[in-house]
Amino acid sequence: MGGMYEELAEIYERAGFTRFSREMAPRVLELLRRFGVKPGRVCDLACGTGDAAVILAQQGYEVLGIDVSARMLAQARSKGGEAGVHVQWLQADARDFVLPRPVDAVTCMYDALNYLLTEEDLASAFRCVHTCLNPGGLFIFDMNTRAKLAQEWGTSERIEEVDDDLFFTWQSSYDHEVEVNTVVLTAFVRQAGGLYRRIREVHRERGHPVARVRSLCEAAGLEVRALGDVDLQPLQSDSERFLCVAQRPR
Ligand SMILES: C[S@@+](CC[C@H](N)C(=O)[O-])C[C@H]1O[C@@H](n2cnc3c(N)ncnc32)[C@H](O)[C@@H]1O
Repeated sequence: MGGMYEELAEIYERAGFTRFSREMAPRVLELLRRFGVKPGRVCDLACGTGDAAVILAQQGYEVLGIDVSARMLAQARSKGGEAGVHVQWLQADARDFVLPRPVDAVTCMYDALNYLLTEEDLASAFRCVHTCLNPGGLFIFDMNTRAKLAQEWGTSERIEEVDDDLFFTWQSSYDHEVEVNTVVLTAFVRQAGGLYRRIREVHRERGHPVARVRSLCEAAGLEVRALGDVDLQPLQSDSERFLCVAQRPR
């Protein structure tokens, strides 16, 4: 069984996992413009295969992409090359990173912060973000809600057929005590010759309560400017994801 995202990297895009950040990118661009971050330097934290980072670079931002997974970064690097844009890719942990130069915004998309399983880890990430932002800089991130991890995923099994050559099984189990959903993700990828290769990874996501996320942000010195669903509309009790825009005070 491989480390998180190390094997999945190869099929991350093919499985449709880049859709969310590609759909979010125009909204993020709008937020950056609305808050005056144009032009500017942006860091996409936990950038995965780099899709959002590449879109931001194509719009004229100077971009750094950070991820802990070497293989996700390898995919990102080749996407940046294919798109003909320059992005600086760094392998680092969200809980403990420093940037070569301060940035005007940090983005972190598609529930990457749910992978930080303790409040201390989340607080460390927020402090690193605060440190690397210029005064007035923005932090835009989304997270899965506790309702999604506890109820929508809950303790369940599902099978998803992406196409004739790729399918997944997801076995989720939610531990209410620690608010963590453990997902055993198994992918079967058809190889040349017709046999399937199995990829298996275990992913853990914590459903941090929204109010705690807000107060950890504020404790790190970041002012929460907007918090809602992905369209920044008011959150409902069954909302599956929230989006937060925080700012380092000027
Ligand atoms: C669901 S993917 C999201 C990737 C990308 N942001 C996107 O929208 O497609 C989660 C990413 O978080 C990264 N990640 C998980 N824990 C991390 C950590 N502690 N530090 C940095 N990256 C981390 C994983 O390697 C993976 O690329």
